Amino acid sequence: MKQINVGIIGPGWCGGIRANACAINPHVDELHLAEIRPERLAEVAAETNPISTTDDYHEILANDSVNAIFISATPESTHYPMIRDSLLAEKHVFVEKPISSTMEEADEVISIAEQKNLKLSVGYSQRFKPKFAFVHKALKDGSIGEPVTCLVSRNVTRELGDKITGRTKMSPAAMEATHDLDFLLWCLRPRKPVRVYSQQSGKLFARDSDTPDHQWIMVTMDDGTTITVGAGWILPLGYKNYSQCWIEVVGTDGALTIDDTHKEVQFNTVGSGIQYPMSTMPGEPVDHVFAGPMKAETDHFIESIIYDRPVMVKPSEAREVMDVYVAADLSAERGEPVLLPRNDTSGPIEAE
Ligand SMILES: NC(=O)c1ccc[n+]([C@@H]2O[C@H](COP(=O)([O-])OP(=O)(O)OC[C@H]3O[C@@H](n4cnc5c(N)ncnc54)[C@H](O)[C@@H]3O)[C@@H](O)[C@H]2O)c1
Repeated sequence: MKQINVGIIGPGWCGGIRANACAINPHVDELHLAEIRPERLAEVAAETNPISTTDDYHEILANDSVNAIFISATPESTHYPMIRDSLLAEKHVFVEKPISSTMEEADEVISIAEQKNLKLSVGYSQRFKPKFAFVHKALKDGSIGEPVTCLVSRNVTRELGDKITGRTKMSPAAMEATHDLDFLLWCLRPRKPVRVYSQQSGKLFARDSDTPDHQWIMVTMDDGTTITVGAGWILPLGYKNYSQCWIEVVGTDGALTIDDTHKEVQFNTVGSGIQYPMSTMPGEPVDHVFAGPMKAETDHFIESIIYDRPVMVKPSEAREVMDVYVAADLSAERGEPVLLPRNDTSGPIEAE
């Protein structure tokens, strides 16, 4: 069987899932881990039995036998230099969202990957959930006719909001709605987003920072289809990293309603009260299976290298998502719609 050697940079929460998925994937021979927190490195190493561990990811990049790198480090500003260095070291790269902090950085790494004929993909894990794939299929096969309007509303617990706002000033659009914008843009391709309007509200995190609690984003596509995506991160602390999501898609010949609020499994104990297992966005291991999309996504990327197949999430798609959430933040700041595409590749843009 054909095998590759894989490195994981930043095996924290998501990177730990990637490392465990790689460790049991028959297409992976050697596993290498780079992590700057020694206690976390030791924890994941004990679970995955890697060939090497280091606190300096450049050591993995210098190893010619390593074929592919998963970048799961935070803060998110580390992604661009890590992608660039990995591609320049001739490695295929999978990076958690966001691909980078600016459009310029995204353009640079996309161009290096193309020039070197290396795979580059971005972690939009929700595409690997069966319920989400079903929406994609129903829109592609025409079973609900022409799409008219699509809504995704997602809220996660405040521990995630705390973690995210502690390390970055990025908005709910950039950090959370990015998944659902990617999902709907994917479902609606080849339609293109042409207009974005967004509003934020903040009453909780605003006490100590300039981070909003919630953001609504409305996008108009070039055929008139409308998208509404909501993202918030202040749900009360309940089940660790709980995420609830509701999807409505209305078309000319039908409609789809998807409940992804995870109320189908309720675990109630005297010690901990009501808990919602298997309700996190990446998913979690349960005994001998993985409940959630991140393992399937990891396996898919490895197979795309082994069999030279196209990756599920093209980097140009992640760039388009970035264009939309940057426009959303600008719209929220200015209180007016922003037209797409934007011509400025560096950052905040002029509304036309
Ligand atoms: N796809 C999803 O569902 C999903 C869900 C949550 C987070 N994410 C994304 O995944 C990424 C990771 O998020 P997380 O919550 O797992 O973060 P985390 O903070 O739990 O893990 C990141 C790890 O990177 C390590 N690190 C930082 N700098 C490093 C360096 N130079 N070298 C090696 N290790 C380094 C940190 O010590 C930490 O252990 C983020 O980009 C986030 O936006 C994706």
